[in-house]
Amino acid sequence: MIGRLNHVAIAVPDLAAATAIYKNALGATVSPAVEQPDHGVTTVFVELPNTKIELLEPLGEDSPIGKFLERNQSGGIHHVCYEVEDIRSARDRLTAEGARVLGDGEPKIGAHGKPVLFLHPKDFCGTLVELEEA
Ligand code: CO
Repeated sequence: MIGRLNHVAIAVPDLAAATAIYKNALGATVSPAVEQPDHGVTTVFVELPNTKIELLEPLGEDSPIGKFLERNQSGGIHHVCYEVEDIRSARDRLTAEGARVLGDGEPKIGAHGKPVLFLHPKDFCGTLVELEEA
């Protein structure tokens, strides 16, 4: 059911510093930083030939990555994002399999302007999984 790896997201305490590492040391193409107030993060996308890296910095008081960064102060892998063709049918299949969808279970518009859902890390090998309709 799942398709391509759309991106790996890395939460970072300092987005400018993280962007510089990817741009300068690793020589990658990076996007401008974009504030995503609906998601409580500021994002930079690193373009790789076969996928993307999403750098995430907390935005505002109640950022969903705030607690993660308290536990991982130098940053760390936060989630992986897999593409699916039809996000609602993917959700229905996963919930029938016993997996938990975070939030109210309805897809939200993600950082790429496409519908996304997040799946409970305890149901997926300790990894927060994002599904994106691509
Ligand atoms: Co993501």
